[in-house]
Amino acid sequence: MKRIGMLTSGGDCQALNAAMRGVVKCLSCSGEAVEIYGFLEGYKGLIYGDFRMLTGADFSGILTKGGTILGSSRTPFKLMREPDENGLDKVEAMKQNYYKLKLDCLVILGGNGTHKTANMLREEGLNVVTLPKTIDNDLWGTDMTFGFQSAVDIATDCIDCIHTTAASHGRIFIVEVMGHKVGWLTLNAGMAGGADIILIPEIPYDIDKIVEAIEGRAKRGSKFTIMAVAEGAISKADAKLSKKEYKEKMKNYQYPSVSYEIADEIQKKTGLDVRVTVPGHTQRGGSPCPYDRVFATRLGAEAGKMILNGEYGFMVGYKNREIVKVPLEEVAGKLKMVSPDATIVQEAKLTGISFGD
Ligand code: F6P
Repeated sequence: MKRIGMLTSGGDCQALNAAMRGVVKCLSCSGEAVEIYGFLEGYKGLIYGDFRMLTGADFSGILTKGGTILGSSRTPFKLMREPDENGLDKVEAMKQNYYKLKLDCLVILGGNGTHKTANMLREEGLNVVTLPKTIDNDLWGTDMTFGFQSAVDIATDCIDCIHTTAASHGRIFIVEVMGHKVGWLTLNAGMAGGADIILIPEIPYDIDKIVEAIEGRAKRGSKFTIMAVAEGAISKADAKLSKKEYKEKMKNYQYPSVSYEIADEIQKKTGLDVRVTVPGHTQRGGSPCPYDRVFATRLGAEAGKMILNGEYGFMVGYKNREIVKVPLEEVAGKLKMVSPDATIVQEAKLTGISFGD
């Protein structure tokens, strides 16, 4: 008999359900008796002992369903060691619930913050297996996270729609793509949607270079320009500020987001009409794309296999087209960023895409 606790933590994404289904299908196909404790709303459920017993039926028909049947929440890692408003020690509470329910292991699905806490629980002696989710694809130790390809599809669809209206009106359009710290989503959706300018956090921009790229296109006869801009795009000047100086600047910030600031600057410098579209959380919503369904199922099945073998302390990742086990201590606290020297960036530049640098 295996007693397994499961939770989904952090921002949701597509294929969380597909991944959990993969784990449970693998375990039930093995013939091993299993009890599944589904903790609700991420680590909160584990802290406060809020769970639901789940059976195979709960995982039936959810392969294609977006969101997470367990619900999710953000429980910042830096607050985990701080007592809650009633003085409860959250880490001790999680351990007590784990031992009270006599769990064999926890299956934790999440992104960066989630992995820091998962690694802490491992250090505290709990058996943990994790699965890499996030539309940002920024988890260290895996070439791919589930949710990413589905989000690329949605952001690309958005850019495709904008393309036709931008062309009709001869306008400059900015599509703001999710990603505060890393630009994988913007880079991929931007390239897939044929964006002319792509701005990502890892490559700070110079507004004059952006204007140069727009004017260059106009000279070559293109009346419109499409820009894919990451939420975390940053100017060269701002990138030089210290954390304190940047915080100070943001106190008086007058724009809803960086895209509006860039739009305003372009408008002032060129007199051209600039519009901003923000697909926002639609990028995390809806059904997983077929790639993510397959990928999440594979990861889930491998996690199931690891549980059956009693192999704990790993994230199930993907490297060089192989599913791999990555020690949690290697994953926790690191971000997989786009290197400005990455071949994909160079190839984008070879096809005339400007990064505003
Ligand atoms: O980490 C996933 C993500 O969707 C990021 O791309 C985005 O910046 C952030 O979450 C948005 O967070 P929230 O859903 O808390 O607004």
